[in-house]
Amino acid sequence: SARIAVLASGRGSNLQAVLDAIAAGRLDAQVVGVFSDKPDAAALQRVAAPLRWSARPRDFASRSDYEQALGDAIAATAPDWILCAGYMRILGAGIVQRFAGRMINIHPSLLPRHKGLHTHQQAIDAGDAEHGASVHLVTAELDAGAVIAQSRVPVLPGDDAAVLAERVLAIEHPLLVACLQLLCSGRLAEQDGKLQLDGHTLFSPLTL
Ligand code: GAR
Repeated sequence: SARIAVLASGRGSNLQAVLDAIAAGRLDAQVVGVFSDKPDAAALQRVAAPLRWSARPRDFASRSDYEQALGDAIAATAPDWILCAGYMRILGAGIVQRFAGRMINIHPSLLPRHKGLHTHQQAIDAGDAEHGASVHLVTAELDAGAVIAQSRVPVLPGDDAAVLAERVLAIEHPLLVACLQLLCSGRLAEQDGKLQLDGHTLFSPLTL
């Protein structure tokens, strides 16, 4: 089964959705490590202690030293896929290149709209009628890699960022699992920066 390394900084509900899908037999994969920039991240507690790795970036001489150590720890688990699930640091070109075509991220907006942080407030401020989440390939440019799939939710009158975040999170979990099902079964893969589904180039994101 496919080996998945997960990078997470916080709560880890997306990681939990992946673990639950594996446990239920809905995803033929194993989580081989959880990697965090926050030693107290709740996400780490969702897997057995031997699978946890964390280090504070500020304990390294440079960002590239931190990312070298992170990359070495990830590589040691021989992952097929590297999943960023609420990993809240921008990854440098070095580590992105090292895992090129194998690293994906779940982002809480309908990319290319609302890159970066505070995406729910961004959607409200923009007056969007629709919002959602995207799973995309990680490239050196922030939140700009090819989008694999998206799911949509309405923005409702009176929504604040917290309410909207909760509505989006509920669709993130099945979206992420569905993408991993495609990736881990080998139906979906990257070739020369383009996504191929069943051997055909994917010209626009899947809607899930
Ligand atoms: C999720 O909403 C995820 O899309 C977002 O952080 C949350 C993590 O929740 N990621 C980003 O904003 C990445 N820039 P979780 O820790 O419960 O999975």
